[in-house]
Amino acid sequence: MKVCVVGLGYVGIPVAAKFAEAGFDVVGIDVDDEKVCKINQGVFPLKGEEPGMKGLVEKVVKAGKLKASLDFKECKDADFILVSVQTPMRGDMPNYSFLKSALESVGKNLKGGSLVSVESTLAPKTMEKIVKPVLEKESGMVAGNDFYLVHCPERVRPGHLLYQLENFGRVIGAFNRESGERAKSFYKEIVKGDLDVTSMTNAELVKTIENTYRDVQIAFANEMAMVCEKLGGNVFEVRKLVNKCPWRDMHLPGAGVGGHCIPKDTKLLASSIRDFYEPVLVLTSRKINEGMPHYLVKMVEGNVKNGGKVSVLGLAFVKDSDDTRNSPALVITEELKGKGFEVCAHDPYVESKGLEACLKDSVCLVLATDHTKFKELSTKEGLKRIKKMMKRPLIVDGRNLFDRKLCEEMGFVYRGIGKG
Ligand SMILES: NC(=O)c1ccc[n+]([C@@H]2O[C@H](COP(=O)([O-])OP(=O)(O)OC[C@H]3O[C@@H](n4cnc5c(N)ncnc54)[C@H](O)[C@@H]3O)[C@@H](O)[C@H]2O)c1
Repeated sequence: MKVCVVGLGYVGIPVAAKFAEAGFDVVGIDVDDEKVCKINQGVFPLKGEEPGMKGLVEKVVKAGKLKASLDFKECKDADFILVSVQTPMRGDMPNYSFLKSALESVGKNLKGGSLVSVESTLAPKTMEKIVKPVLEKESGMVAGNDFYLVHCPERVRPGHLLYQLENFGRVIGAFNRESGERAKSFYKEIVKGDLDVTSMTNAELVKTIENTYRDVQIAFANEMAMVCEKLGGNVFEVRKLVNKCPWRDMHLPGAGVGGHCIPKDTKLLASSIRDFYEPVLVLTSRKINEGMPHYLVKMVEGNVKNGGKVSVLGLAFVKDSDDTRNSPALVITEELKGKGFEVCAHDPYVESKGLEACLKDSVCLVLATDHTKFKELSTKEGLKRIKKMMKRPLIVDGRNLFDRKLCEEMGFVYRGIGKG
């Protein structure tokens, strides 16, 4: 059986590799020449820490089960076609240019009897209003009669791609009963978790709502962090104790929420309902989370009066990843530059300055991403090292990586989100 995976990113590569490992003949299709070349050499093209990915890509490419291509004609004899291209926002509305272009090419090369599964995250009603019509127009076939159609959104997160793909349950939004049945037995080959079949619209709602839920929970934690800080409390200590009360699950606050999922999925959901209702809670939560990088910048400004060099540690939106999409760290660096600071950033997974060059002569260290590699900087030895490099020992901690008491013992001025 042949599988084509269209869009070889954080979602597409692990999915392609897992189906290849399960014995399918897999062709990954992308418009990015460099990615296609790397994968064909057996190289995993992303830079973050992704347990198991490098070895798996190398193994399945070597075994001849996975190859990558720029050519959509590969879809002509595919039994299963998965679409996992990016679905970003443009302002308040989804930018479906990547999705439409991929679907047009798939539609032109679709064979009767194959199953198309869209794994990208979609605003509710997109399957009905865009995906199905584009595929039907380009293929001249009818969904449900001539080909099968489902929406099976991904739940993975950078840093845990393989584990989560294999172990997390999935929702299958099926156009008709047979599409759902086919998709379920197909996904069973790689997914150990539950495979719940529902309608296409319900699947779109589940995915966007589960990420919006998280956005709202983080916004609550962020607002409480500001409350605790202003009242002289420590939000991390408070959170631990709040969560001892049954049915409480307060999240971790921080310098903002980034990536290609949470920030835009709330907006995807809101965009789908805008003509009837303007959601209040979820858009307010989005604003709180978008405000956190600015809040951190204000903390820097409040503690660095005479300008100078500020070193930002971390550019990726989440720890141990190279993904900088919608990263709060980028907002922080740009805003600091705009305010006249000399800014130097270091991230072990993103092209940037080395740690020493970044910290040398700086008057403030801003911790924007809590990469595991940064943990050693928070030890006594690490703090000693940092202090030697810096011109003034000031730490502004956006991710609760450093311990205030130890920092102060080591002669640092310490400020942290949520720590009054
Ligand atoms: N990143 C995540 O952790 C994650 C998790 C769950 C869901 N998702 C969703 O999955 C989708 C993909 O996300 P991603 O992070 O993998 O994106 P990505 O940007 O890493 O990968 C998308 C890939 O699609 C390719 N592409 C774009 N247009 C194309 C076309 N017309 N034909 C072929 N390839 C094309 C791009 O070159 C890129 O390699 C999004 O809708 C996202 O919301 C992402």
